[in-house]
Amino acid sequence: MEKIIALASDHAGFPLKEEIKLHFEKEGIKYIDLGTDSLASVNYPDYAHKLCEAITNNEAQLGVLVCGTGIGMSMVANKHCGIRAACCSDTFSARMTRMHNDANVLCMGARVVGAGLGIDMVDLFINTEFEGGRHTARVEMVNSYDK
Ligand code: RB5
Repeated sequence: MEKIIALASDHAGFPLKEEIKLHFEKEGIKYIDLGTDSLASVNYPDYAHKLCEAITNNEAQLGVLVCGTGIGMSMVANKHCGIRAACCSDTFSARMTRMHNDANVLCMGARVVGAGLGIDMVDLFINTEFEGGRHTARVEMVNSYDK
């Protein structure tokens, strides 16, 4: 089954989210956009909760959250059972967090990374598979605190 990527941002992340959407349109990558839809000030937790619920309900398999720093979004996302969110600002981390942590949400700061780097990170994140093996038990240890 083709993966669907959920996207959401607050006002600070909105410009980068729009760049990611343009890239997805160009590449034919399936996505759902959960807002926000302008530069008007909003609260990042609302959008992080919405995106995590979409993943939990299997409306999307992976998610990308963008705020000013990526930090607030990752704090909220990691409160959700079954969500493993990684706040990244480099391509190596964006790839490794899929391979070793089976992260399902990438968080980025639009005030930290530019569109070029942000889009490269998203591409690596969505195109890299979890390695499994010795990492499976470790991810299960992470998930054991979900309950
Ligand atoms: C909004 O000004 C900013 O606080 C938010 O985008 C984010 O960086 C929070 O972590």
